[in-house]
Amino acid sequence: MKRTYCGEIDNKSINEILTVKGWVNTRRDHGGVIFIDLRDHTGIIQIVFNPDTKKIFDIAQSLRSEYVLEITGTIKKRLEGTINNDMLTGEIELIAEKLLILNTSKTPPFQINDGKTNEDLRLQYRYIDLRGSKMQDNLRFRSKLYNTIRNHLCSNNFNEIETPILTKPTPEGARDYLVPSRVHKTNFFALPQSPQLFKQLLMISGMDKYFQIAKCFRDEDLRADRQPEFTQLDIECSFSNEDDIINLTESLMRKIFTSLLDKNANLEFPRMTYVESMDKYGCDKPDLRNPLELKDITNMMSDTEFKVFKDCANNEKRRIVALNVPNGSMMSRKNIDNYTDLVKTFGAKGLAYFKIDNVSNIEEGITSPIKKFLSNQEIKDILNTVKPKNGDLIFFSADTLDIVNSSMSALIHNLGKDLDIIEDGYKFLWIVDYPMFEYENNTNKLTPLHHPFTSPFEDDTDEFTNQTLSRAYDLTLNGNEIGGGSVRIHKKSLQLKVFKALGLTDEEIEKKFGFFLKALEYGCPPHAGIAFGLDRLVMILKNLPSIRDTIAFPKTQSSACLLTDAPTEISSSQLRELSIKTSKIN
Ligand code: AMO
Ligand code: AMP
Repeated sequence: MKRTYCGEIDNKSINEILTVKGWVNTRRDHGGVIFIDLRDHTGIIQIVFNPDTKKIFDIAQSLRSEYVLEITGTIKKRLEGTINNDMLTGEIELIAEKLLILNTSKTPPFQINDGKTNEDLRLQYRYIDLRGSKMQDNLRFRSKLYNTIRNHLCSNNFNEIETPILTKPTPEGARDYLVPSRVHKTNFFALPQSPQLFKQLLMISGMDKYFQIAKCFRDEDLRADRQPEFTQLDIECSFSNEDDIINLTESLMRKIFTSLLDKNANLEFPRMTYVESMDKYGCDKPDLRNPLELKDITNMMSDTEFKVFKDCANNEKRRIVALNVPNGSMMSRKNIDNYTDLVKTFGAKGLAYFKIDNVSNIEEGITSPIKKFLSNQEIKDILNTVKPKNGDLIFFSADTLDIVNSSMSALIHNLGKDLDIIEDGYKFLWIVDYPMFEYENNTNKLTPLHHPFTSPFEDDTDEFTNQTLSRAYDLTLNGNEIGGGSVRIHKKSLQLKVFKALGLTDEEIEKKFGFFLKALEYGCPPHAGIAFGLDRLVMILKNLPSIRDTIAFPKTQSSACLLTDAPTEISSSQLRELSIKTSKIN
């Protein structure tokens, strides 16, 4: 008998004899008749056991949730009054004639699809959680996404090539996961933070166009959009520049949207410089669906009596910004205090504000704890720049660039959600012209903003500062960084200069990157590439609250697997083989 999926049966099958296989979703005993809702990944169908088929009726009495069944019977239209319009198969039912219990089940720790179970329990029993329709849908979407990506890239002459998992540390800015070598005692492999150097080696190898759906490993503090083990779509092309990669990306995103989400999607990909993005939004991944923007008022405050503002206005490492909140003057004291607490978690010292009742009456139409420190001219200058309407509220932040930017971008994000002013839909944005380096924690030590293989615009530069611009580009979607890449350095001399600018000694350079510098001596073509976070992309496309909802077997916020109980202690014999002694260092 041909198997039919539960959710695919409808009126057209009435009077047909069909076989369905799946799990018992619910069982109801209606005095004499037993009803089972049988579930597979396509949906649910109602099965009816009548007492006149006594042999299977008796067995049906023993059925429990999550038992695995094979049932054959005739499809019938449900009686008037028993039709369930909430079910796709709500007009029909299967009258059971044969029943096979393929397996029994313990009572599951939670009801499938109940939507209320705490996440730790869901992760512990992930195989049960994955039976639910949301997780089924997420994983099946992810599978289709991979298929679309592979088809698009392969039809554009890309080669899918795997690179090693046991490798040498790759500098993407996180801590490495290390694997001890049994053969080479006291030596360690590192798991790749990305396939960066291998994909560049593949360009030197003449592979021309490479892609890989690659596992990456980064030991870093986790957030809702980060996992220690995640998946990148990794791409690299020879003889290419930023426009080639940007065009390829846009064609891929269009393909993904039109194939999987909306046939008529009209996507736009504006570009913004890093400097403009930091200036307007305080971050390099603004959500363009949120209309709130910062206005810089630093230059207007150099002579003010308000000491906090004056000190910032006369220090180039500081800034003062204003943020207009439409209709914000209704905000309660408590709301303002909550937002002040939020910015304080980023180190801000306060959150001054203007409540604007009447923009043309400075004396009586504006209430503010800092008004008394500002001259009428200064207030007018602020109003001319911010252009509030009556009923708005302006927040102010004055501090170091880092504190103003991080706290105010978080404020924009929270206000956007609280005021419900974030548009629906999808908004992409390219961020370009990144600085190549930043200074590490207020020292003079440079660290790369991306990775050290990113090319500067001037490839004959000898002096590097935090003003040197790089040929890096990031793609953001709805306020998340979904991808990043760059045109690479392809000359050994420039690569060496960059390593030196980062303060690496000759010995360190040789030890960490000697193999790569050697390869650059053998005819390396100019090349460029990009990598996308696929888990993150699925999270955004499916509008999911957590990256874990896109991954079959994810880690918790504290980088553990609750299902397998990893990481675990290792037996002393295994450790001895590896020549490793463990002890806890506090
Ligand atoms: P980058 O470090 O920007 O670039 O990573 C590329 C993309 O990977 C995603 N991502 C993550 N997703 C989930 N969990 C994480 N912990 C995590 N870290 C990063 C992000 C990010 O945009 N080799 C370079 C790419 C290149 O230059 O071609 C790289 O790895 O969406
Ligand atoms: P204070 O003089 O400390 O009572 O602050 C007066 C107002 O200015 C209060 O509303 C504070 O929240 C706000 N404020 C203090 N420091 C800052 C700052 N660095 N940036 C923005 N507002 C501030």
